[in-house]
Amino acid sequence: MPACKTMDVIRSPGAMSSWADAMRGKGRTIALVPTMGFFHEGHLALMRKGAEIADEVVVSLFVNPMQFGPGEDLGRYPRAFGRDAELAGNAGVAVLFVPAAEDVYPRGFATRVEVDGLTETLCGASRPGHFAGVTTVVAKLFHMVKPHCAVFGEKDFQQLAVIKKMVADLNWDVKIVPHPIVREKDGLAMSSRNTYLDPEERDRALCLCRSLRLAAKKVAAGESDAVRLREEVITYLTDCGKISIDYVAVVDSETLQPCEVITEKSLLTLAVKIGRTRLIDNTLLKE
Ligand code: PAJ
Repeated sequence: MPACKTMDVIRSPGAMSSWADAMRGKGRTIALVPTMGFFHEGHLALMRKGAEIADEVVVSLFVNPMQFGPGEDLGRYPRAFGRDAELAGNAGVAVLFVPAAEDVYPRGFATRVEVDGLTETLCGASRPGHFAGVTTVVAKLFHMVKPHCAVFGEKDFQQLAVIKKMVADLNWDVKIVPHPIVREKDGLAMSSRNTYLDPEERDRALCLCRSLRLAAKKVAAGESDAVRLREEVITYLTDCGKISIDYVAVVDSETLQPCEVITEKSLLTLAVKIGRTRLIDNTLLKE
């Protein structure tokens, strides 16, 4: 019977880097899956992808204060360390890296990594400073974990585009590997934040994926006018009731700029609030 690999939990950035150096010294490749924990099947799929593309998988678990704005859910972000550690261990993860906030941002920390352009629209417009928080922490994680590749979900499509741009602009030798959105059986995109929804809100949240499906159907039936399609999605969501729309946009999936005519690269992306919970979802329109 093959020996069952056990997972290490590493908390210190120095110990993490030493582990990475040792693995690289042995010629082992490392995949990093950065997360904020409270794992669901989406996170686990990213971990399994990591195991396919590298010899060792490191999962970082860090609820990054720098990417939350004032009044956002940093204080109540769901946490379940014991359960997360068990799930990651069962997913074949070699190291769960759980740095402390004071080690990631020690007193006097004064540097930020910021990508212009891609971060000013969509989620960046309603969450100022959010993406600078994401790119700063991901840059730091890349230095601590020294991965050959890193897996990110398409659920956070803009985040993925911003990280790809950071890596390209900084000549970083880390391959960014996207993973498709993992959904619940009824279509709701999995998210740690779904846990905030009460049963009635959870029901209402289905309008996100339903509106995407409706739009994709219209495109399959010949709709090519992005402006009209966007209006139809807004009408659908508004008719669902008790939903506050942050944005609905049809954009080019590389530049994230709005498009007028729907092409293979057109992405429909949206963010809404249901009660106090902000949810996002997206789909390529001509998949
Ligand atoms: P978190 O929301 O925990 O997500 C961690 C990773 O899981 C991200 O790459 C995200 O896109 C992916 N993910 C989440 N839900 C998914 C789903 N339903 N299907 C596929 N992938 C999914 O994103 C973050 O954390 C943070 O911003 C982070 C990158 C860790 C930086 O702090």
